[in-house]
Amino acid sequence: MAEAAKKAFVTGHPIKHSRSPKIHGHWLAKHGIDGSYQAIDVAPQDFAEFLATLQASGYRGGNVTIPHKEAAFALVDRRDQAAEEIGAVNTLWFEDGKLWGSNTDAHGFAANLDEYAPGWAKNGPAVVLGAGGASRAIIHALKLRGVSDIRIVNRTLARAQDLRHRFGAGISAHAMEATDELLGDAGLLINTTALGMHGNESLSADPTRLPHHAIVTDIVYVPLETPLLAAARARGLHTVDGLGMLLHQAVPGFERWFGKRPQVTAELRSLIIADL
Ligand code: ATR
Repeated sequence: MAEAAKKAFVTGHPIKHSRSPKIHGHWLAKHGIDGSYQAIDVAPQDFAEFLATLQASGYRGGNVTIPHKEAAFALVDRRDQAAEEIGAVNTLWFEDGKLWGSNTDAHGFAANLDEYAPGWAKNGPAVVLGAGGASRAIIHALKLRGVSDIRIVNRTLARAQDLRHRFGAGISAHAMEATDELLGDAGLLINTTALGMHGNESLSADPTRLPHHAIVTDIVYVPLETPLLAAARARGLHTVDGLGMLLHQAVPGFERWFGKRPQVTAELRSLIIADL
């Protein structure tokens, strides 16, 4: 009997704007895999039931996005170290009958900088704007790569302080007013908030305060060049947009479900940019 088609999904609420089906669909076609990757809208009250029926529905796993990442963290049978450290799950798979959860955002963040700013982790103190879920993933990545001075700036200081306690040594927490002062000797500036996204207000951080060797990156990728990145580029700083993080975070899931390590290519990037 022929092997059943391999199935994976992305779930969120809403989900129709997700770019993940396009990314995974591209890789499935590239590798000639008999498989599918489907977007499924699941309301928060139905999420636990959705997870409980996954295996019987023939899914090998899938991605979880807003607002289900924390619920997925709580509901999986097993979590890998990245998920534990970040406190949220974006990738699910079955292994030995157990539902496993990981968080691949940290990998996506680091792999994007590895590609466009090699050596980035040695660039000195990092200023991280924001203290939400995306910030947790990025701080995990910074710590893994040995960045020893991580300065979290957040509108709500208490949330930055929570992260300082969560991640421990090398982390400091600051109110927004301190941003300019913190930038003077920083080698990395990372926006982890949705500020600067189309339709949202812009950030108040001023990249002209940074030294000339600094790298500036943003998790926002619509527009590809956010006002923050544009200001940094005008200053002659090295900038890295957020699209690569989205593409690279998809790699580990695809490999688990479909058995091939996919490549983040210029072709894939262009395909997604055409749709932004
Ligand atoms: P995510 O999981 O995407 O990181 P989140 O957990 O809601 O989302 O976190 C959003 C981040 O953007 C927070 O750091 C938030 O600041 P607060 O903790 O003070 O809410 C930040 N943010 C959102 N809107 C903001 C605004 N208008 N000005 C400054 N920071 C803002």
